[in-house]
Amino acid sequence: MDWDDWDDSAPDTAAAAAGAAERLVDAGADGDDQAVEAALRPKNLGEFVGQERVREQLDLVLRAARQRGATADHVLLSGAPGLGKTTLSMIIAAEMAAPIRITSGPAIQHAGDLAAILSSLTEGEVLFLDEIHRMSRPAEEMLYMAMEDFRVDVIVGKGPGATAIPLELPPFTLVGATTRAGLLPPPLRDRFGFTAHMEFYGPAELERVLHRSARLLEVEIEPAGAAEIAGRSRGTPRIANRLLRRVRDYAQVKADGVITREIAESALGVYEVDGRGLDRLDRAVLGALLKLFGGGPVGLSTLAVAVGEERETVEEVAEPFLVREGLLARTPRGRVATPAAWEHLGLRPPGQDTGGSAQQGLFGV
Ligand SMILES: Nc1ncnc2c1ncn2[C@@H]1O[C@H](COP(=O)(O)OP(=O)(O)OP(=O)(O)O)[C@@H](O)[C@H]1O
Ligand SMILES: [Mg+2]
Repeated sequence: MDWDDWDDSAPDTAAAAAGAAERLVDAGADGDDQAVEAALRPKNLGEFVGQERVREQLDLVLRAARQRGATADHVLLSGAPGLGKTTLSMIIAAEMAAPIRITSGPAIQHAGDLAAILSSLTEGEVLFLDEIHRMSRPAEEMLYMAMEDFRVDVIVGKGPGATAIPLELPPFTLVGATTRAGLLPPPLRDRFGFTAHMEFYGPAELERVLHRSARLLEVEIEPAGAAEIAGRSRGTPRIANRLLRRVRDYAQVKADGVITREIAESALGVYEVDGRGLDRLDRAVLGALLKLFGGGPVGLSTLAVAVGEERETVEEVAEPFLVREGLLARTPRGRVATPAAWEHLGLRPPGQDTGGSAQQGLFGV
């Protein structure tokens, strides 16, 4: 999958955000996550699970820089929320034994904000710029020169009397993170020496993440229990860690604390996260599409009304994962369910019944 086409970003609209609120399977970090994530973050490349290609490439980049006694090239990390971009930025600093400064695109609205940060960097420091696609234009242009020539022009004064005073910067490593690499202007993208495209994690990798986290949280988890949680984690370590915490609660209250397959299954049943990682909202959208509209095509607005949600919530919160899972397709004529969707909800497409009620798929269940 090409990351430039990827659009399952944090919802931009208030309506979508409201729909995503308190979703157990949302890939964004909530307050609770932020508190525990620091403890669960791998500290070096060796501990970082999966992303083999990115890890190998990054290892080379960092190792070579270390051998030369130089500052590492600028690195761009692109990928969906919760795949480990912030984690990797900290690992880069740790591997280079360099201090790290953390800021984000939305925090830098004026070029002056950026100039202040850049001019206070020390040699070799890592500057982590999260959500780099949300930086303002003037700041972005200042960043071009800083990245390339380790220099910024500080504008002093206003109007015709304004002068640009060039300021030398110590060499530093910019680590940019973005969920929307496609939104980065090419001149900015081109100034990174290395771009890491983070992929969704496979089940085996998520199991390793879960075993590691369980060890750190001092929870006993059986391999089958980890497999059960991994399958529902949407390819995302952050979700895996969150589900693990909920299952741990359940295991502690309802059983002896050990996470077995049965415990994981019952716990995630309580939280309405199904075997494929769909939650109540996802299943409502899919269910309406199948049961009320015979699998589509149906327009987004109609579908939204049918499930009692805002358009934006359906489009930005539920659909991206359904599309990624091959359960729903967006077509010019509207939303269409795939055969896998019928199968997942245990329904039969209309007209495919042998005998019995031909309407069963439509109105039956
Ligand atoms: N490869 C990995 N191995 C182990 N744990 C991981 C890995 N990647 C991510 N995690 C876990 O997932 C959590 C989320 O990762 P992180 O905060 O780095 O994601 P992110 O890509 O920065 O997300 P966002 O786009 O929301 O900022 C971390 O706390 C970390 O514990
Ligand atoms: Mg992050």
